[in-house]
Amino acid sequence: MYRGHPGMLAWVLHRITGLAVLLFLFAHIVETSMILVSPEAYNKAIELYRQPWFKPLEFLLVAAVLFHAGNGLMVMIIDFIPTPSRTYRRMFWIGAGVYAVLLVPVAYFMLGGLVGLR
Ligand code: HEM
Repeated sequence: MYRGHPGMLAWVLHRITGLAVLLFLFAHIVETSMILVSPEAYNKAIELYRQPWFKPLEFLLVAAVLFHAGNGLMVMIIDFIPTPSRTYRRMFWIGAGVYAVLLVPVAYFMLGGLVGLR
């Protein structure tokens, strides 16, 4: 019934981004708490974050958080205000546009250094 509706895509992406951010949060807590047991292991983990190849992954994390937060707010609005499917479609595409525009400065600041833009 929902096949092809943007709401289905938003739902799938919401679940993927929610779980990905949760996974990162667990890993981040484990890695940060390592400072108590082994400062060397902690330093190794921090060194990983400084590698250039890690930057795109950091960018994906920010992109996932932004999507999840934005779509989450939209889900909450729709939960409280009954929205016809046609209106939701429009909201989805406006939201997708806002998201794409927001990602441009994020990409510039996070990845610009990798490609000599900053
Ligand atoms: C501004 C921040 C956030 C907002 C507004 C938000 C909003 C939401 C909403 C409304 C849902 C329910 C979606 C539905 O009923 O279809 C949800 C689900 C979820 N959120 Fe968030 N969330 C936020 C941050 C986070 C963070 C930081 C994490 C991870 C650490 C997270 C992980 C999840 C997960 C795993 C689900 C379940 C996804 C599913 O069952 O499909 N969320 N979020």
